[in-house]
Amino acid sequence: MTAPSANFERLFAPLDVGPIRVPNRICETTNSIGAGAMPGISDDAFTEHHAAKARGGTGWIGGETIVLNSPVPDEAADEFFPGAGATRFPLYLMPDFVENTTTFVSAVHDAGSVAVFQLTHLNHTMAASSVPIVEAYDWIPHELDESRIEFIVNTYADAAAQLVAADADGIEIHCAHETLPQTFLSPALNRRTDRWGGDARSRTRFVTEILTRVRERIGNSAALGIRICAREEREGGYGLLEMREMLTCIAESETIDFVNADVGHSWGAPYVQPSYYEHAEHREVGRAIRTDVAPVPVLFSGRVNDPVVAEDLLAAGVCDLVGMTRAGIADPEFANKAREGRLAEIRRCIACNRCIAESIDNTTPSMFHKPVCSINPVIGREIEWKMLYRPATEPRRVVVVGGGAAGLEVARVAAERGHEVVVLERKAELGGQVRLASRAPGRDAFEDFIYYEENQMKLLDVDVRVGVEVSLADILALEPDVVACATGSVPRLPDTPGIDAPHVVQGWDVLDGRADVGERVAVVSQEDHFETPNIADFLATNGKHVEIFHKWTALGNQIDRYSIGPVMRRLAGQGIPIHTGMRLAEIDGSALAFTSAFTGESCSVNGFDTVVLVYGSVPDDLLYRQLRDVGSVDRLFLVGSAWVPRRLAEATQHGARVGLEV
Ligand SMILES: Cc1cc2nc3c(=O)[nH]c(=O)nc-3n(C[C@H](O)[C@H](O)[C@H](O)COP(=O)(O)O)c2cc1C
Repeated sequence: MTAPSANFERLFAPLDVGPIRVPNRICETTNSIGAGAMPGISDDAFTEHHAAKARGGTGWIGGETIVLNSPVPDEAADEFFPGAGATRFPLYLMPDFVENTTTFVSAVHDAGSVAVFQLTHLNHTMAASSVPIVEAYDWIPHELDESRIEFIVNTYADAAAQLVAADADGIEIHCAHETLPQTFLSPALNRRTDRWGGDARSRTRFVTEILTRVRERIGNSAALGIRICAREEREGGYGLLEMREMLTCIAESETIDFVNADVGHSWGAPYVQPSYYEHAEHREVGRAIRTDVAPVPVLFSGRVNDPVVAEDLLAAGVCDLVGMTRAGIADPEFANKAREGRLAEIRRCIACNRCIAESIDNTTPSMFHKPVCSINPVIGREIEWKMLYRPATEPRRVVVVGGGAAGLEVARVAAERGHEVVVLERKAELGGQVRLASRAPGRDAFEDFIYYEENQMKLLDVDVRVGVEVSLADILALEPDVVACATGSVPRLPDTPGIDAPHVVQGWDVLDGRADVGERVAVVSQEDHFETPNIADFLATNGKHVEIFHKWTALGNQIDRYSIGPVMRRLAGQGIPIHTGMRLAEIDGSALAFTSAFTGESCSVNGFDTVVLVYGSVPDDLLYRQLRDVGSVDRLFLVGSAWVPRRLAEATQHGARVGLEV
């Protein structure tokens, strides 16, 4: 498929950054997705994951963060806990560190890209001052004393020397995202009255000390830069102007070759912006910083998922380098596709944040943890895919029933391998639940995934038939060798008295425009992810008066900490009351009776025109069971939520794996 001609002149222009030449402007900023067996370790899985982006055309590979050591008390082991880590024996002191890292760097160099390593001190047991750092958590750190500051500053230089020995092209000192250096920069977190605290210049002392120490050790053998948060977005934190003042002080030290800037923190106003944010919403900070530190190049990142947006940012003078990190998780090949004009083939990141949610939940290394992407089934399984992916030896006729995420992935992978594939979809459009999800405010990015799959179906000559309700006989008449039943799920209906009343509707039908909804709406939820808030938001956006009644202690308690802030802000902005710990006991006209989840006591509310249920869904596997009973299809699969309704990543992975197997 040839695409509209966009020549991306700026995006693919090389750039000199200190002593190195970056082949183009596309950057994988550091993302500790946990690709290796241990956090940040450059083993085969790590190399496969990150070097795939280099081979896919990304010029700057930021890999994963290297967590430095800290003087934890003798009796304390390494301390890893959600969002932070303190380590006694860090990665860079491991015996094979230089050798393993060199192998990774070589793989990046073989692809023509540069390898930049981030040095991070993410120790929330010690900080500039004893104040809580991540507001989502309540622990309070020790205040660092002079000797510990000295120890820590030196670890940056030690680690940088090891990285240079491994042929690293760049070193980035992480001064954003609630890392230790940021606790010094932040007026909210740095309450010191000694030389490390005080005015903006004094608060930069810790950072300039690190930079000077690193520069002394590595000379000009690698590019040296900092990652900063341009606006803290926390109470009492610094704003853009104060950061510009601090950056000017840091730049005066003449130690930096680049500045990598973003906005936000790791909870309410996140730097890993979910789909509710505009593309490059905080772009103005890039332009401001660029004028301050010129000629030092500026890297800007934050929800740039499309090469067209990236080219615009460069053209508008926002930055010199563009972070496109989740873009590369969703599609490691996106840069090559852009350069070759194959824009319609790019699988654009939908900013669902499953990748960061998964990596944060798995701060403790586990044999079961793998990186996850909702729409790219290969992520975290690169080696497995390399071993299993083969062109079909004997092309077979594959019938996929259901054109949601799971079915489309069966079709895509099977067709790509050379099978003849038919997709049968009951609805007039492909997409299934992804299409429904995309209707909620701030979730239109989900349509990008359907767009990608539709383009793939065309490209791979898949016979797609929409608006067809098929029977068992219809399927058998197609004489399939393989049938994949990706028939999805149906909303769960509890046996609560009054549930059959006409004013009780399902959340999915609301999003689908099929439900008749009155003015005052009770959204009753037994669901903990995005579905309930998105449906309530959709209703309120359409002018309804909405209240949410949720089963447990908090709404959306399975939403990651990078997404929950914008979700709750939207609900607050719509004035939607949220009642928690409420279990629906009975519906009697406009009155609803609830039982408290905690005390068992009853209460009732009145005056609702419509009750919207968000109770999860149950598998729709009827067709599968019929086909199994007939027994005439050679290979029969039950896929996606027709097997078990879970999240999008589980559906795409399941579908893709079946596509590999047929
Ligand atoms: C899974 C994951 C892990 C991340 N880990 C880090 C990290 O260790 N250090 C860091 O500076 N940023 C980290 N980030 C933030 C990214 O570098 C980037 O700023 C963010 O994803 C927004 O850019 P994007 O919209 O291009 O993805 C992480 C992001 C993701 C998705």
